[in-house]
Amino acid sequence: MNIILLGAPGSGKGTMAQKLTSELKIPQISTGDIFRKNLKEETPLGLQIKDILASGGLVPDEITIQIVKNRLAEADCANGYILDGFPRSIAQAEALDAFQNIDCAINLDVDKETVVKRLSGRRFCPDCSGTFHISTLTHATKCPNCSGKLIIRPDDSEATVRDRLKVYEENTFPLIEYYRSRGKLVTVNGSGTVEEVYERIVQVLHR
Ligand code: AP5
Repeated sequence: MNIILLGAPGSGKGTMAQKLTSELKIPQISTGDIFRKNLKEETPLGLQIKDILASGGLVPDEITIQIVKNRLAEADCANGYILDGFPRSIAQAEALDAFQNIDCAINLDVDKETVVKRLSGRRFCPDCSGTFHISTLTHATKCPNCSGKLIIRPDDSEATVRDRLKVYEENTFPLIEYYRSRGKLVTVNGSGTVEEVYERIVQVLHR
C-alpha cells in the first residue's frame, strides 16, 4: 500500500508513520529525516539546505522531488511505503503522480493550540530519528530506543513553529483539496492520545 500522511507540523505524522512502519512492514520515507541526516553529516546537500531548515521554509521542489524519486526506486519500497512530509506543495504532488500510484492520503486533523503544545515538548534522537514527547519520557535526554542523546529540534523554537505553520497553510494545506478531488483523501481526527489516533488510522486502512 502506498500511503501519504498529510498534516500540519506537529500533527503527529512522524509518530504515526513510525507505528505504521512496524505494523505494516513497509518503510517510512520522511523527507524531514532525510534532510536532517544530510545536515548532521554535513553533506553538500546538508550545507545547501541548512538555512532553509533553520528558518522553517521549504527545500526547493526540484531537490526534494529527485530525492523522493530515488528513494522510492529502492527495493524496500516495492511492496509499499508511508510518505511522511512529502508531498508538501501542489508541484510535488503532481510530480509524484507522474511516477507513483498513491492509494490514500491520510490527513491528520489537529487544532493549532495542540500542535504548538506538542512541538514545544518534542524531543528528537538524531541517531535513530526517534520522536518523543517530554511528558512520556522517563529520562529527559536519553533515547528510549537507542540510548542516544535526545535534543530539541532547532526548528521547534516558538518563532520558527509560527513560520512553519504559515508555510504549511500557504503551500501544503491546498493538498487536502488536491487529494479530495481525486477520491484519495481520508481525514482522521488527530487529537487524543497516540494510541487513540493510531487506532483511527488502522480502522481507516482496514476499510
Ligand atoms: P519535517 O520533519 O517533515 O517537519 P514537519 O512536517 O513540520 O513535521 P514535524 O516533524 O514537525 O511534525 P509531525 O507531524 O511529524 O509530528 P510528530 O510525530 O513529530 O520537516 C522539517 C523541515 O524539512 C521542513 O520545515 C522543511 O524545511 C524541510 N522539508 C521536509 N519535507 C519537505 C518537502 N517535502 N518539501 C520541502 N521541504 C521539506 O509529533 C510532534 C510531537 O507531538 C512529538 O513530541 C510527539 O511525541 C507528540 N505527539 C504526536 N502525536 C501525539 C498524540 N496523539 N498525542 C500526544 N502527543 C503526540
